[in-house]
Amino acid sequence: MAVPTGILWERDPHTAAKHTLLRRYMQAWFPIMARQFHDVGITFFDGFAGPGEYTNAQDSSPAIAVEQALRSEVTRWGTQTRLVFIEDHRGRAEHLEKLLDAQFPLPSSPSDLVMRVHRGKCGDLFEQAIAEVGGWAGPVFANLDGWGVDTDYEIVRRIAQQQSSEVLVTFEDQFFIRFADGEQEAGERVFGHSDWRRVSQLPTDEKKSFLLGLYRQGLHSAGFPYVLTFEMIDEGGHSLHLFFGTTNKVAVEKFKDGLWEVDGVSGQRFRDPRDPNQMSFDILHPDFTPLEIRILKLLGERDHSMAELREDALLETIYKRAHVKPAVDRLLAQHKVVQVRTGRSYADRVFSLADEQLF
Ligand SMILES: C[S@@+](CC[C@H](N)C(=O)[O-])C[C@H]1O[C@@H](n2cnc3c(N)ncnc32)[C@H](O)[C@@H]1O
Repeated sequence: MAVPTGILWERDPHTAAKHTLLRRYMQAWFPIMARQFHDVGITFFDGFAGPGEYTNAQDSSPAIAVEQALRSEVTRWGTQTRLVFIEDHRGRAEHLEKLLDAQFPLPSSPSDLVMRVHRGKCGDLFEQAIAEVGGWAGPVFANLDGWGVDTDYEIVRRIAQQQSSEVLVTFEDQFFIRFADGEQEAGERVFGHSDWRRVSQLPTDEKKSFLLGLYRQGLHSAGFPYVLTFEMIDEGGHSLHLFFGTTNKVAVEKFKDGLWEVDGVSGQRFRDPRDPNQMSFDILHPDFTPLEIRILKLLGERDHSMAELREDALLETIYKRAHVKPAVDRLLAQHKVVQVRTGRSYADRVFSLADEQLF
């Protein structure tokens, strides 16, 4: 998509699917966090907030945040809930502020809800904007949905240092592939170092996986032990990468549950950036071949229990834990895998590569 210049623009299917995922995750995040962090409060931070609606949709990340923060399952805890929005484009920031004022007038909002819109650059304002509402006292969920090339590494690092905080980053690899020799400053800001420039020396078919791997590594180094990443591809073949960084394994599970609830994201094709064969599939018709290949690879290294295979799928692939047992059953039926230990629990059941797979 060409970068829009006006205040509003048309919402593309990618963005609609992204909104579905964000809404589903926020449905879980707000009530859980409001209950758990009642004493310190919680913050939804939208660093690239946009105007709050589209020419063809009255939906947006700010609208989702407000709608979810106002649900009774959230407000019943009386937890201080802060919604902080930053938008660089003056017209869009003003549009968002007016829209929020009209849709959610303050006198009728709960007293423990604080909403702020700031106009300016996310990298310049985020620290102060969150501090101003006391957001650094508790967990922060940061939606960093720029045009894919504008989330400073410093923001990600700062959020990662904050207890129980999370980031959802939109990432666009093509920009860095095209501009490795030109726009170096943007690369340095996003990756936090100059290693990314090595992309210009790599063969074309290695560039993308190099950049995605490097960015993923950057989120780990920032302090997120768990990083879920996937690529969404629309009908025109345009792709968009989302990186979800968290310190909490349950959060990975919740985010994935949202992804695999077919409704609202079907029509997009999904790809696991770490799948060496780069297969993509519609969530309505999932292809489990990459998962089966991964299981065979792991078993080629050593025996694994079902519990370990499930854990690996959760943390290292686009698939869910629940997808693993049927995949192993298929591999058993095809005599590619054998069960070398049985037992009641997933940890007891151990699998090995069938002999002929070794040759
Ligand atoms: C992809 S749109 C955001 C869409 C919005 N999150 C939503 O879901 O509806 C990116 C927005 O970031 C704004 N933007 C670009 N660079 C920025 C920066 N450095 N700081 C803050 N906002 C920026 C753009 O003006 C644009 O409105």
